[in-house]
Parts: sequence; C-alpha cells; structure tokens
Amino acid sequence: MKQPQPKIHLPTIDEKYERLKELNEQALQGGGNARVARQHEKGKLTARERIELLMDEGTFEEIGKLVVHRSSDFGLDKEKYLGDGVVTGYGNVNGRMVYVFSQDFTVFGGSLSETFAEKIVKIMDLAMKNGAPVIGLNDSGGARIQEGVVSLAGYADIFYRNTRASGVVPQISAIMGPCAGGAVYSPAITDFILMVEDTSYMFVTGPNVVKTVTQEDVTSEELGGASTHSTKSGVTHFSCANEVECINNIKQLLSYMPQNCEDEAPAVSYHSSDEKRSALDKVLPDNPNQPYDMREVVAEIADEESFMEVHKNYAENIIVGFARIGGRSIGIVGNQPASLAGVLDINSSTKAARFVRFCDCFNIPLLVLVDVPGFLPGTDQEWHGIINHGAKLLYAFSEATVPRVTVITRKAYGGAYDVMNSKHIGADMNFAWPTAEIAVMGAKGAAEIIFKGEIAKASDPAAKLDEKVAEYTNRFANPFEAAARGYIDEVIMPHETRIKVMKAFEMLKNKVDTLPRKKHGNIPL
Ligand code: HXC
Repeated sequence: MKQPQPKIHLPTIDEKYERLKELNEQALQGGGNARVARQHEKGKLTARERIELLMDEGTFEEIGKLVVHRSSDFGLDKEKYLGDGVVTGYGNVNGRMVYVFSQDFTVFGGSLSETFAEKIVKIMDLAMKNGAPVIGLNDSGGARIQEGVVSLAGYADIFYRNTRASGVVPQISAIMGPCAGGAVYSPAITDFILMVEDTSYMFVTGPNVVKTVTQEDVTSEELGGASTHSTKSGVTHFSCANEVECINNIKQLLSYMPQNCEDEAPAVSYHSSDEKRSALDKVLPDNPNQPYDMREVVAEIADEESFMEVHKNYAENIIVGFARIGGRSIGIVGNQPASLAGVLDINSSTKAARFVRFCDCFNIPLLVLVDVPGFLPGTDQEWHGIINHGAKLLYAFSEATVPRVTVITRKAYGGAYDVMNSKHIGADMNFAWPTAEIAVMGAKGAAEIIFKGEIAKASDPAAKLDEKVAEYTNRFANPFEAAARGYIDEVIMPHETRIKVMKAFEMLKNKVDTLPRKKHGNIPL
C-alpha cells in the first residue's frame, strides 16, 4: 500500500513578496527598540537617521541590507541582525553622488565583523571604480571581540582600500560615537575627520588600559574627546556641537571638492557689484609688530561668506580652509599674526602641509597669504624635529602642481619666505602689498649681527642700534628689492587684491604642470 507523502508547501509568489517585505522591515529595526531608545537617550541618532540627514531625500539606495554574520562562537549563532551593524549604500548629497557607510551602534555596539567589513569594502570598491567620495559615519566599539582574527583582517582590508583611494576620491570620516582600537585608523587615513562634542571619542586604547599601563587617571573625554583632538592633537579637523551640525559640515565640505582627482570642483554662480575691497587698505596696524586677524583679509578677498575654516582651533598661528573666488573653489593658507605673531612651528607646518596636499590631490587652486616672522626657535621645537616638520610644508608647496597665487601682506622673513609659496618653489603669481617686508630676518636682529662692532664702539649704543635698524629697514624691509628681481610679479594696493587674485586664477585656469616621472616622492614624515 502506498504511504501518504508528507505535504510540502511551496510558497506562493505572494508569500515570497511578503517574506521580502518582512525581511526589509526587520532590517530597519537595527538592534531593536530598547537599544535604539538607549542611543537616543545618549543624544545620538541611529545609523539610518544619520543617512537620512545626509542624503538628498529619496536618493539613498542600500546595498547589503540582508547580510548577516557567519560566526557561531560565544552564542553568536543565536544572535543575528540583518545588515550586521552597518548600513551601506549610495545616493546624492546636494545632487552629487557619494558612497556612504553608517555604523549602527545598536547592533553589537557597531563592532566590526568579517561581513561588516565586507560591506564597507564593497562600497569603497564601487566608489573607486566610479570616482565618487566615500563618507564614513563611525560609531563603533572596534573589532567584534567574539570574531577574533577575521575582524582584524576586515579592518586591514579597509585600511588598505583607504590608502589606495587616498588622492583618488575624497574620503570624509565623521566620528559620532566611540571609536577605539582599529576604529581610529581608517578615519586617520581619510582626508577629513569631524567629531561630535560630548558624544564621540577616538583613542588607540581607552582610559582603563591607560590606567593599567601608565597609571594615569584620565577620562574618555580628556583622552580622546572632540575638544582634545581639535585643539591638542589635531587629529580632528572639525569639532561639531551636535550631529546635525556635523552632517551639515560634511555637506558644506563636499561642496568645495571635485568627485575625484580627475574632476574639477563645482563652481557656483556668483554676482558681485563691488569687487574693490577698500577695507583692506586699513587692515594693517601702523606698528608692524602689532597683530591683526588674517581672517579679515580672507573675508575681503574671498566671495562673501564662502570661507570654511579647517582645523580652526589647532595650530592657530596658521589658518587653512576652503573658500570661493568668483564662484570657484580655492584652498587658502595664511599665516595668522594674531597668534604667536604668525610664526611657523611644528604643528602649523604639518597642518598646512596636509591641507596643501589635499588641495593638490583634488585640483583645488591655492591662495597663500603671507605674514611670517620666521620659524619658531628653541629647544622644544628643535628636539621635536622642526627641521623635518617644517620641511613638510616646503615639500608640499614645491610638489603642488595646481594654480598657486601668493600675496605677501607684511613680513616674509628668512626660510619662511621661501617656504610660504615663494616664486622659487613654483608659485605662479606672487603679489606683495607696499607694506611687505621681504628680508633675511627682522631689522633689529639683522642690525645687531651685522653692525655688532660699530654698535659696541658707539658712545650711545642704543641710539646707534636704532640708527642701524632704520638703515636696514629702509634698505630691505620692503617689497621693491624682490620686485626688481622679478621674485614679486606686482606690488599692489591692498584694495586691489581680490580683483588681482581673481584675474590670476582666471589666467591660470588651464594650467598644466607635471612632476618628474617617479613612483612617488618621499616627503619627510
Ligand atoms: C562585540 C561589543 C563590542 C565589541 C561593544 N559591544 N563593543 N560587542 N565587540 N568590540 C556590545 C556590548 O556587548 C553591548 O551589547 C553593546 O555593544 C553596547 O555596549 P555597551 O558597553 O553597553 O555600551 P557603552 O557603555 O556605551 O560602551 C561603549 C564602548 C564599550 C565604550 C564601546 O562597549 C567598549 O569598551 N567596548 C569594547 C571596546 C574595545 O575594546 N574594542 C576592541 C578594540 S581592539 P548589548 O548586547 O548589551 O547591547 C580593536 C583591534 C583592531 O579594535 C586593531 C586593528 C588595527
């Protein structure tokens, strides 16, 4: 007699559609309501809420929504979440394509598993092939501890791609929660880091390990909060009051950049009826040793409200940032007389060098505003390697092939004159104001050395010194000697600066310059 066959139910098409709907809905839950509520209690948004804020409405397309981890150790086989703790995909920001990953702290603390890393790698590879920026929204407890070495391998796969992508597509990292261990090195290789005050931190090892190893008591905030990294270490370029500000900053930052190294930054339409900026004639104080704020000069040269300062609270003796002139993106580097007299030291040299290299990678012309009394002397600087670090800035400018325009407003002394985008290291147009002082060193120091004997023998050494300082000042503390030799292309009135700079960039618009054939240079690190 024939046995009755068990009844096999094959899902109908409608049931298959229903299954997809259920899975998609489940993926949106992240680590569940309780964990989402905890995330909100901390003042943090979820991974998906952040993407919603970042992308143009309705443009985000998710990739890998149904991915789950493959681990079974420590009970992981019973705990799986669709997406596995990171939301990845592509979409538009202000109409331009970007690739994005957003780590979901509600799933295993946003920790990085093998599959989590694979999802990030996939969008990075797509970004490279298609030439568009990668935005990382980081909120992660580091390597997924239960997974062991595959998680470390996943990190390395990302670091490798960050490095390969460096200089090819812009990479921006927002730190929106804890970032410990492996989680800090991917952002560190990217072009810009933004941190959110009070809810994010970055460190190689947290306060507990610090206590064990060095006996130091330190809080997470002191060790690696936004204020620490935006003022002391310079690891972060932007410290943002909250997540909304952070995401708005990413959008603004992107607006100055091209999509990739072969593209040009987008221009915005610009209309101005007043190109003459007479306020610039009054910006310098009568006494050449008095400070003034170089940001005032920037504001008068750049298009209205177009300046976005980078690294605002770090190495304040130099200012760097993006702006527009006539609607086109430029990078600005300027000595800041209002801080340490605008001297070049280790931190300001590395800060500016990195910015110059970013602009050069991505075809953003450079405007350099010079008022620099020289390099900072002293044991602290020498012992920490000002020679190497100062050389980075020299190297960065010398290597840059983008259009480069310099304006010397006041002091340009010694080696710092050479370093700050001088004609000799490849600047295209060099302007100076009549107030420029281009010399080997300040008049007082110079007079003390070269007239030492004469001053010592004088009946009134102080009066003699004053006389010699005046003599040196009249001879060298001006732009005309350099202009006579062609090192300065034109001495201009301050109020003419904007129009002269704008015309210079217009003239340089089609500049083609290449470096000698090489594998890559060897910048002093
Ligand atoms: C697996 C993790 C995790 C991790 C957190 N979780 N970190 N799961 N691997 N690395 C889980 C927790 O078990 C918890 O799960 C949830 O995420 C939230 O964590 P909490 O501790 O409750 O949150 P909070 O108090 O806010 O503290 C967050 C934290 C802390 C500071 C990130 O979780 C922490 O210290 N995590 C470990 C950090 C770490 O040492 N990572 C490894 C670094 S080594 P439930 O189920 O309760 O929600 C590394 C090596 C890579 O990264 C090197 C490459 C070069």
